[in-house]
Amino acid sequence: MSSLQTLSSTISRLSILRKPLFCYTFKQRTTRPTCSSSPLKLSSLSNRFFCSKNCDQINMSSKDDLIVLGIETSCDDTAAAVVRGNGEILSQVVSSQADLLVQYGGVAPKMAEEAHSQAIDPVVREALDKAKLTESDLSAVAVTIGPGLSLCLRVGVQKARKIASRFNLPIIGVHHMEAHALVARLIEQELQFPFLALLISGGHNLLIVAHNLGQYTQLGTTIDDAIGEAFDKTAKWLGLDMSRSGGPAVEELALEGDAESVKFSTPMKQHKDCNFSYAGLKTQVRLAIESRNIDGKIPISSVSSQDRSSRADIAASFQRVAVLHLEERCERAIEWALKIEPSIKHLVVSGGVASNKTVRARLDQVVKKNNLQLVCPPPSLCTDNGVMVAWTGIENFRMGRYDPPPPVDDPEDYLYDLRPRWPLGEEYAEGRSEARSMRKARMHPSLTSIVQASVRQQS
Ligand code: KG4
Ligand code: ZN
Repeated sequence: MSSLQTLSSTISRLSILRKPLFCYTFKQRTTRPTCSSSPLKLSSLSNRFFCSKNCDQINMSSKDDLIVLGIETSCDDTAAAVVRGNGEILSQVVSSQADLLVQYGGVAPKMAEEAHSQAIDPVVREALDKAKLTESDLSAVAVTIGPGLSLCLRVGVQKARKIASRFNLPIIGVHHMEAHALVARLIEQELQFPFLALLISGGHNLLIVAHNLGQYTQLGTTIDDAIGEAFDKTAKWLGLDMSRSGGPAVEELALEGDAESVKFSTPMKQHKDCNFSYAGLKTQVRLAIESRNIDGKIPISSVSSQDRSSRADIAASFQRVAVLHLEERCERAIEWALKIEPSIKHLVVSGGVASNKTVRARLDQVVKKNNLQLVCPPPSLCTDNGVMVAWTGIENFRMGRYDPPPPVDDPEDYLYDLRPRWPLGEEYAEGRSEARSMRKARMHPSLTSIVQASVRQQS
């Protein structure tokens, strides 16, 4: 790699470096790849950016002609999708590691990495085949670079770089949580910035104000576990079938139970902020299970009807309180968000747990009471998927935020710029929590601080 190329990597969104030079800012370009002595050979295809010495501005119609491949491997799903600039989903493929989840009761990084490595080629191939396209039809490749498990992220990034270098395609490094939020703009094209978003998944519980692309204020986060983790553990302890992950199993069983029967207390009542906590609720669930002599090792399919109904009561009561915690935090977040951005009209709810019907119904009531609108992607776009990555790639690409094609295949010893702990936004001062700031070691600077630094550099 030449020194020029190394430099361009260090200031880019997706840096691939030989030694640990961490990239804190990426260069915001205009609307096309950098024109240098080696311009991209993109002129032959209409859907690609034309890059010549003059670098013509692309017009709106060519933006809609963009075709982006999105790759997602941050946790336990290997996903790929092909999406058009106008939001048309040409294909979507997800290979889940459900069997590993059942076997290990959670995500085991080494096993997950191996599963991603086996799945990545066929998943990407299927995404392209289903879209009836080949790599040469693509305009760019987008890939999740964080947050997530490094071992897993690496598999997706390696694949994306291989395709990008072989087919001379720009590459966009995507923030997983930004992707969960922005996919709402694919399904609801009317959704403009600024908006409020609640992002709820297995590892995250975030309330953010989305001011603009890449610019977020974090109103609250979890001080311990995320809600999805609490659903997964509850499912495991109740002996439910985890093959579709724990959340859907708890949701289904909860339909049979009495949500008022077990008195769990709502977390963090005394904290007048927008942060979350689910560790205490998890403990309450475990104690309730123990006190009723429920043996989670016995699958629910083989227990008596009395035992089943007891499990259903716990599932329903847990779900009620878990969602009540979301409702209370969203009420306050709406108040705070409207102070920060009075023009906000929407609450976006996304991430795996947003597939839950009770979550959707209860939060719909909260937003209606506050004269806002709820935007909740369909379940297949709430759980991890390649579409959200491709779409976020498209949004960033349009803003000129991408890297040029990697020059050659990466050598074995390349140090990839992966961002396992990567906050999305800067914390809102009123929402700061002592407990959390203790745990900031080894965090990457937030996406928002990177974008702001880059915008300042440009002006
Ligand atoms: O966003 P996601 O697919 O992956 C992460 O980024 O973590 O979220 C996965 C989480 C899991 O904890 C899963 O149990 C939960 O979302 N989940 C649900 C439902 N569907 C998925 N939780 C409650 N109800 C559901 N229907
Ligand atoms: Zn996710």
